[in-house]
Amino acid sequence: MTSRADDLDGRPGSSPGEALPGGAPRRVFLETYGCQMNVADSELVRGLLARDGWVVVPDPAEADAILVNTCAIRENAEERVLGRFTQLLQHKQTRPGVQLGLLGCVATHQRERLLDRAPWIDLIVGPDGYRDLPELLRGGTDPRIEVRLDRDETYADLAPDLAPGPRAFLTVMRGCDKFCTFCVVPFTRGRERSLPAEAVLEQVRSAVGEGKREVVLLGQTVNAWRHDGLDFGDLLRRVARVPGVERIRFTSPHPSDVGESMIDAMAGEEKVMPWLHLPLQSASDPVLAAMQRGYGLDEYRRLLERIRERIPGIAVSTDVIVGFPGETEADFEATENFLRETRYDFAYLFKYSAREGTRAWKIEETVDEAEKGRRLERLIALQEAISLERHREQVGREAEVLVEGPSKRPPGHVHGKTRDFKTAVLPGDGIEAGDLVRVRIEDATAHTLLARPLGIASTLEGVGRSASVTRESGRPEGDVTSR
Ligand code: SAH
Ligand code: SF4
Ligand code: F3S
Repeated sequence: MTSRADDLDGRPGSSPGEALPGGAPRRVFLETYGCQMNVADSELVRGLLARDGWVVVPDPAEADAILVNTCAIRENAEERVLGRFTQLLQHKQTRPGVQLGLLGCVATHQRERLLDRAPWIDLIVGPDGYRDLPELLRGGTDPRIEVRLDRDETYADLAPDLAPGPRAFLTVMRGCDKFCTFCVVPFTRGRERSLPAEAVLEQVRSAVGEGKREVVLLGQTVNAWRHDGLDFGDLLRRVARVPGVERIRFTSPHPSDVGESMIDAMAGEEKVMPWLHLPLQSASDPVLAAMQRGYGLDEYRRLLERIRERIPGIAVSTDVIVGFPGETEADFEATENFLRETRYDFAYLFKYSAREGTRAWKIEETVDEAEKGRRLERLIALQEAISLERHREQVGREAEVLVEGPSKRPPGHVHGKTRDFKTAVLPGDGIEAGDLVRVRIEDATAHTLLARPLGIASTLEGVGRSASVTRESGRPEGDVTSR
């Protein structure tokens, strides 16, 4: 993607739909909130708009169209986004031709209310409406709304404009059919649908062609992927065969969709990384039942035991919600004990947030904000201690790091991920983004491993090259930014 068109600087905003003199490109600013799937959707949108002649600019003050890709998962996420729009409105006030567009999950979640709350928004486009964006950006002065969900839309034929860095996030399935009672996703993103395997493989090949070394396959229930008789394990095995792919990850799998085929692929494919994000939500059976998660604690525990047996040393992370309606102190303690027993490598911990339209919205809340806060703090403290212990166990061990770019601190260092998805920081001398570096772990905090590159003669296990640093010859220069 080109950066900015300097010859257009200082040009007053034009009206929507008006062609610029000399057919000059129009400029778009795109900001993204929410999960990796939203990030990947923004890459798709950038690709689409670039093909229509738009240029992405880094500053809303320079843009003819300001788009915000939004998240509705919790109330504060949604409110933050609407607050951001109030700030962005100033650009429209000073340059009346500027178009403001709201994309993503808030578009479908708030479809009825958005125009009352923010009548100055020009475009409201849900996750299945992006194909129409170039056309919608061309047309008229009335608000343009495309919030229909489309059970066939996978964007399989569209090339995303991937962000810089050695890792590519690639959506392999969209939507969710699970309808957990707390969750807006099935309403904001619609029904589950998978991209054909060949379309996924084409995207992987194209990412590798751009110098990516790691792919992260994405979906809200990514392991529900199936197409033409193939399951998610088959997909992992096929992706692992693409020449040039060094590392494969995926997120988020749903416990109920974990099959033997997926476990076999994780255990048998060297390129499928030993890390699994397996959302738990709660360790109390009554709460899991009220959430309609589709599994009980014993089932989850047995599944995790089987996975740990088959893939020794695998890192496991999770999501937990505290304060779901009806969660008693004993339910909460069950979750606390399970975190202690399971020793997750890390966990995303959330306070329950009632979302309109979900089944749980109608259930009266029984845990007040202060109590939710107390439960959350307790889990955070526990998990921080466990994460620190887990990290300390790594000290003295060797690991392989895929370098993503300069680290914020200490100066002169770079950061990247180990095979088991731990963040490592190491001295950056002679090391570039995209390098796979063999390191020894020397120190650890709860969030970071401090590492030292090993001598150049050490062997990169599993990749079979004899250097501590391996490079792709075709990697584009300047590809150093990480997310
Ligand atoms: N599809 C994934 C999760 C997607 S949403 C799965 O089912 O595992 C990411 C996480 O946000 C969820 O796992 C859950 O922990 C949290 N979350 C979703 N809805 C929420 C709500 N209403 N309140 C609080 N946390 C929520
Ligand atoms: Fe939401 Fe449940 Fe679907 Fe995950 S599986 S996206 S939590 S409804
Ligand atoms: Fe948010 Fe939508 Fe993702 S609600 S978490 S951006 S699927």
